[in-house]
Amino acid sequence: MAHPIPDPRDRLIVALDLPSVRAAETVVGRLGKEVTFYKIGYELGFSGGLGFARELIADGKKVFIDFKLHDIGNTVARGVASIAGLGASFLTVHAYPQTMRAAMEGKGASPLRILAVTVLTSYDDADLAEASYGAGVAETVARRVAQARDIGVDGVVCAPTDAASVRAVLGPRRAIVTPGVRPAGSAAGDQKRVATPLEAIRAGADHLVVGRPIVGSPDPASAARAVQAEIAAAL
Ligand code: C5P
Repeated sequence: MAHPIPDPRDRLIVALDLPSVRAAETVVGRLGKEVTFYKIGYELGFSGGLGFARELIADGKKVFIDFKLHDIGNTVARGVASIAGLGASFLTVHAYPQTMRAAMEGKGASPLRILAVTVLTSYDDADLAEASYGAGVAETVARRVAQARDIGVDGVVCAPTDAASVRAVLGPRRAIVTPGVRPAGSAAGDQKRVATPLEAIRAGADHLVVGRPIVGSPDPASAARAVQAEIAAAL
């Protein structure tokens, strides 16, 4: 069975990279019922965003907590259990085998899905060498995707330009979530390996994370609808 996505609107995850709950409430209010899935990262998460996550979940939205956890196993497992208790749908952890195993243990029987971050997209081979790694990005990503698959994590976060090769290793059942998605004609910002929604879905992505092209748009709802239409066209 492929990664289940009962509501096609869930394929779009809007990144609430905003400094306050008030700012997030405004965006969510303007997006309305078309957007069903939100990502909360460090910025909003550490300014009251976990309480806001609870409100979103109570309103029937899905929440992706993007905290990229990495610590000793006991700490990871207990932290993951707390996020499962919040009712979140997705949570990121760094793709270290100990961390991935602890996260899978911590989520228990909850529906929370653990997503592994292989190598941060801001890292190149020189950055890995500077951080004392012997292997480069391509080799490290390939190895960590295979480890994620073998440990049984629920999915992987990767650049849309890597989705096809990740899918080949990961198989059909696990989720691929891709940031770095830019509708044709929108600014790339600091994203380097970008793709359009159509390209990302065709490469095998299940969910697309889009932030600034929607949240920073003068009309966020129509920007979101345009991305959803492009996703629908690709399927
Ligand atoms: O604004 P934008 O569409 O670039 O937002 C993309 C989101 O995805 C941000 O929250 C960013 O932190 C996140 N992300 C990313 N690249 C990764 C992992 C996460 O852009 N490799």
